[in-house]
Amino acid sequence: METTAPVLARQPTLRTERLALRPLVPGDAPAVQALAGDREVAYNTLHIPHPYPEDAAAKWIGTLAVAYDCGEAVVFGLALREGGALVGTCGLTLDLAHARGEIGYWVGRPYWGRGLATEAAHATIEYAFTRLGVRRVHAHHYTRNSASGAVLRKLGMKHEGTLRAHILKWGVFEDIEVYGVLRDEWGSHRDTEAQR
Ligand SMILES: CC(C)(COP(=O)(O)OP(=O)(O)OC[C@H]1O[C@@H](n2cnc3c(N)ncnc32)[C@H](O)[C@@H]1OP(=O)(O)O)[C@@H](O)C(=O)NCCC(=O)NCCS
Repeated sequence: METTAPVLARQPTLRTERLALRPLVPGDAPAVQALAGDREVAYNTLHIPHPYPEDAAAKWIGTLAVAYDCGEAVVFGLALREGGALVGTCGLTLDLAHARGEIGYWVGRPYWGRGLATEAAHATIEYAFTRLGVRRVHAHHYTRNSASGAVLRKLGMKHEGTLRAHILKWGVFEDIEVYGVLRDEWGSHRDTEAQR
């Protein structure tokens, strides 16, 4: 029988020095609601609405298993290994027909500036290249969002260009910066890091 949906193994939990990247569960909804409800988080992301509707987190979490099973997206909750607090999310929107994924992430404001987004995104890219058969990971951020640009450069992603007035966000046409990394380049970036 022919199937159109790619078959992925069960979504794993990835562990880094400080984080467990794990599937989100319904019990995470209050933490997601509180952190993603922050205006600064919404302002810098594409899809998070503001004000954040009361049941938005629970509804969103409820869509993730199907998106994963269909090979459309994989989203990880970022839980501190020490204490277990949920601090953000990191994920990939997949286009497996083209062996590529777009990475996206947010971290709750109380946890900014500790390197957590970079740590989570690093593990997510490694996962994409080694376990999902992805050959290209790309990302974009609003030009005004310098912190996200810093994360992408720390990951060794290449700046590929600027798309002018590409997104209409809260009444403003925003420029965005596009970054990408290919699987072969990722190998050498990781090796350089390991030698440091
Ligand atoms: C962007 C975001 C994910 C960064 O999370 P984080 O855990 O603080 O990121 P890290 O600590 O790994 O790295 C942040 C880097 O940005 C730098 N940075 C922070 N604010 C900055 C600013 N205003 N200008 C320039 N660089 C800035 C930090 O110094 C750090 O770089 P460094 O390690 O070289 O010093 C977080 O701010 C966030 O969730 N913002 C709202 C949502 C969002 O922007 N998501 C990304 C959409 S593309």
